Formats: sequence, structure tokens, C-alpha cells
Amino acid sequence: MKTKIIKADQLKQAAQLIRQGELVAFPTETVYGLGADATNEEAVKKVYQAKGRPSDNPLIVHVNSINMVEKYVGELNTDSRKLIEKFWPGSLTLIFKIKPNALSKTVTGGLDTAAFRFPKNQLTLDLIQLAEKPLVGPSANTSGKPSPTSPEHVYHDLNDKIAGILDDGSTKVGVESTVLDMSVDTPTILRPGAVTKRDLEEVLGKEVNDEFHHVGISETPKAPGMKYKHYAPNAQVYIVKPEDNWDDVIKWIKNNYQKPVGIMAFDQDIANFKWPENVMLKSLGSDVNSASRLLFKLLRDFDSQPEFEIIFTQGVVSKDLGEAYMNRLNKSAGKMYFDQL
Ligand code: TXA
Ligand code: MG
Repeated sequence: MKTKIIKADQLKQAAQLIRQGELVAFPTETVYGLGADATNEEAVKKVYQAKGRPSDNPLIVHVNSINMVEKYVGELNTDSRKLIEKFWPGSLTLIFKIKPNALSKTVTGGLDTAAFRFPKNQLTLDLIQLAEKPLVGPSANTSGKPSPTSPEHVYHDLNDKIAGILDDGSTKVGVESTVLDMSVDTPTILRPGAVTKRDLEEVLGKEVNDEFHHVGISETPKAPGMKYKHYAPNAQVYIVKPEDNWDDVIKWIKNNYQKPVGIMAFDQDIANFKWPENVMLKSLGSDVNSASRLLFKLLRDFDSQPEFEIIFTQGVVSKDLGEAYMNRLNKSAGKMYFDQL
């Protein structure tokens, strides 16, 4: 099946494909999602196949109204409504207990909860409207690879495996949504994203848990997706801590490594240091916002140049959006740091 790039003026065609049980990747403000009709079990199964995704890893259900959530969940409580009011549409995924068998096991991975998200992208909201169906939407990458932040990334991973890609250019946030579990007594962040612990606590007026980083490969994680290898480029990534000096990295390269080296750094450092000839510099822009937007793209850029076997990437303070950035970067790097070399 040749994958069709679908433009905004062909939205009806995308909706038609979804209604027929086909897969269409869709844009959101965070990353591209791999869309299928969440109420069509056969279609949802194809999502796992196309991605090569383990079947115990449940999917996010993308909606365009609160009604669509309540259909599966029942009436939402006050805290959930407060969060929705403030952060939807936007980069916050909420996990609720669902009515028995309201969604298929293929969507929920057999849990009695499901994840819901109201993305901030008009094309995709219109697609849901036209299809008249909620859409499952894992990130539209091959399982284990960096999430796609452009239609080209989706095409690279899923060409011939899905019917279409709804093209809305590059995404703005670049890291996936915050996943917040609202099915437990104390709301718990399972994956950090652009909506931060502080943002959530401000709206709820109470403390929010964030235990997401404690999950090992052998444990049963709260968000099943957290245990798998993620965002891994072909090269080995080493994280350069904010307190490290690029001069030390440069010294290490000169003394130890003659082959091509990838560098992902901020503009000001790219301009200020004297870089050896075997490095290829790629800019993360000037702050944590641009770094988050560009992280997956730059890792993918290096993947298209197999001569780069190591990449040094700028780390930031793990706070607010920096927490989401460092969470993804740590996974890409398998927690390898320059100061361990
Ligand atoms: O920004 C995003 O959230 C993107 C865009 C496309 O919306 N989607 C995304 O989906 O990142 P995915 O499938 O790559 O990540 C969803 C995460 C996984 O770690 C999964 O295990 C977790 O959410 N999850 C889904 N349903 C869950 C549930 N009922 N309980 C706990 N975790 C759940
Ligand atoms: Mg993903």
C-alpha cells in the first residue's frame, strides 16, 4: 500500500479512510500520532502491527469534546473538569477509569482505565469531527525510535504500512504530552511533558505525584510504555550536563576519537567554542523550548548519516519543560553521560 500524503483540503478523504478502518497519521502540537478508529478493533490491531508495538502497551484515545470522554468514562469529577478547562485542547493526557468493556482490550491493554487527550491541532480536531470517531494515536514512529515531529519522519518509518499521513508541517512542542493518572487517589504524573507538575498543582490546589522515573524493566510500570526502549537513535548518545564544560568534551574528542562525532548544542555554545574538524554541529536553538522541539528531529537527522557513531547532546536542568526534555534524552542515551567517559 503506497502511503498517501494528505493535505488540509483533502481532509474528507482522511476521514473516509478512518471510517473504513484504515490507518492515517495525524498532526498534533506535540508529535504525529498514528490514527485509527478507536471503536474498530481490527483497525486498532493494525496500529500495533504497523509500529511493531508490544500489545500490552495501551493507546491514547484522542477526542474533540468532553462528551466523547464521558461516553466511555461517565461523569467526570470536579478536579478532572478543572484540568480539562485549563489544559484542553493541549498537551495533557488524562487517565480515567472506564465503564466496563466501554473500549476494547486492544485499546486499553486489558486495564480498567484508558488515556484520553484533546490535542491542539485544528486539522486533527476536524478529522475527528468528520470521522465521528475518537482516534487512537500512539506516536507515529516505529516502536523504539524517536517520535515523529514532521510528516517526513512518519513517512520514513511507516511508508507502505499505513494508508495516509495528514500533513500539517512540523510540530511545535516536540515532546509527547504529559500523562496524568486521574484514576488514583492522588493524581500521578506517569510521563512528564509540557504541562508541568507545577502547572497541575496550581490548578488543582493540591499536590501531584510524579513517580514515573522509578520503573525498571522487570517491574510492572504504571504506564506500560515506560519500560520499553525508547527514542533510540543508531548512534550512542552521551549527555553533556549543564555544569559540564564543552571544552572538556572537545579535549576528550581530540585525545580519543578521530571518527565523525555529532554534537547537539545551544547556538551560543556553537558560536563560542573552537570545535575540532571531525565534529558535525547541530543546533538545539537557544533554550529548552527549542531544544524540546528539535530533540527528536536532530536524533533522526544523525540516523540518516550512519558514519556518526557517537553524539554528544546538551543536557538541561530537569525542571518544568526541562524535566520532559531530560526524560526523553535520558532514554535516547540509555542514561549515558559524558562524565562517565
Ligand atoms: O503527545 C502524545 O501523547 C502523542 C500524540 C500523538 O498524542 N501520543 C503518544 O502516544 O505519545 P504513545 O502511545 O506513544 O504514548 C502513550 C503513553 C504510553 O507510555 C502508554 O503506556 C501510556 O501512555 N498509557 C496509555 N494508556 C494508559 C493507561 N490506561 N494507563 C497507564 N498508561 C497508559
Ligand atoms: Mg510513543
